[in-house]
Amino acid sequence: MTSPPATVTAAYIDATGPADVIRVGALPTPVPGDGEVLVRTQAIGVNHVDTFVRSGAYPTPLTFPFVIGRDAVGTVAAVGTGVAGFLAGDAVWCNSLGHGGRQGPSATYTIVAAERLYPLPAGVDPVAAAAVLHTGATAHLGLFREARLRAGETVVVGGAAGGVGSAVVQIAAEAGARVIAVARSEQVPWCRSSGAQEVLDRRAPDLIGRLHKAAPDGIDVYWDTSGHHDLEQVVPLLAPRGRVILMAGLDAHPTLPVGTLYTRDASLRGFALSNATTDELADTAAALNSLLAGGTLRAGQVQALPLSQAPHAHALLENGRATGRLVLLP
Ligand SMILES: NC(=O)c1ccc[n+]([C@@H]2O[C@H](COP(=O)([O-])OP(=O)(O)OC[C@H]3O[C@@H](n4cnc5c(N)ncnc54)[C@H](OP(=O)(O)O)[C@@H]3O)[C@@H](O)[C@H]2O)c1
Repeated sequence: MTSPPATVTAAYIDATGPADVIRVGALPTPVPGDGEVLVRTQAIGVNHVDTFVRSGAYPTPLTFPFVIGRDAVGTVAAVGTGVAGFLAGDAVWCNSLGHGGRQGPSATYTIVAAERLYPLPAGVDPVAAAAVLHTGATAHLGLFREARLRAGETVVVGGAAGGVGSAVVQIAAEAGARVIAVARSEQVPWCRSSGAQEVLDRRAPDLIGRLHKAAPDGIDVYWDTSGHHDLEQVVPLLAPRGRVILMAGLDAHPTLPVGTLYTRDASLRGFALSNATTDELADTAAALNSLLAGGTLRAGQVQALPLSQAPHAHALLENGRATGRLVLLP
């Protein structure tokens, strides 16, 4: 194994702001300290949260220059002291950098605390994995920690062909739920191939009436990933003890029909993956690894761009022009 170069090529910011504050250039190669691993990156995921951190919309402690991003797949380049379980050359991944004072991974090499690093199963393509690490972890945490999903329950997924939506459909179906997807009509084949038993066209009239018909005994888990929440219409559709998952829509202020909610013993469950503990992330990683190895967790289309196009990737996400899951290639 050759030793790492003195500098890395990184996508970083010196202050929060719009996508064009991202610079791509040389920074000193970080040296792994106690409990840390230096990873040579192969594929770096780009997600909405990366744009929120970069713009300052999602405040979190940052030190500048701040390397952007959160998720990466790569190989171990060097290990610091006190690290067990990782050797140079191992295929690995991480999906919790770039938050809470941690630098992001959008560089040719990145430092990861060993407790946030996981092995990549043999045979899993790094780009395909990077495309679903953030969305898969979100779906897994939301379905099992928050919704406490059980086999046989009815799950409705809004934005079902999006990143998180696809992962929720795939993981809920794998867990034995009956999944009703809400998406555009041209996304029906993808939603069905992900495991949805029924797909409702989000643009056809009377979605609420059609949801009621599709789930006459009530919805156990309602998860709209689009950030649009009409709780006045949705809460009456819930089954007793139904759960609404809230994790998108930073500025949404929906009206809540309180009596309809509590007389069903129903609940709202909000969460952010950023707050997950390292133990929760490790449990989620083990589950994601088996879903990745089994081919259950997968992206539809992946748009891979060179690391040098990181500003363009953020702009694509922000103007809704990405044609699939975005991945940067160092
Ligand atoms: N809390 C957390 O821990 C967490 C973690 C991950 C993501 N998130 C948030 O979750 C959201 C989704 O992330 P993502 O990666 O899945 O995004 P994405 O891939 O862009 O998917 C968004 C989905 O929403 C749908 N959508 C957009 N506008 C809509 C509207 N007006 N009505 C109905 N559907 C609409 C889109 O459908 P079309 O294809 O039809 O446009 C698409 O399927 C983002 O806000 C993200 O920040 C939160």
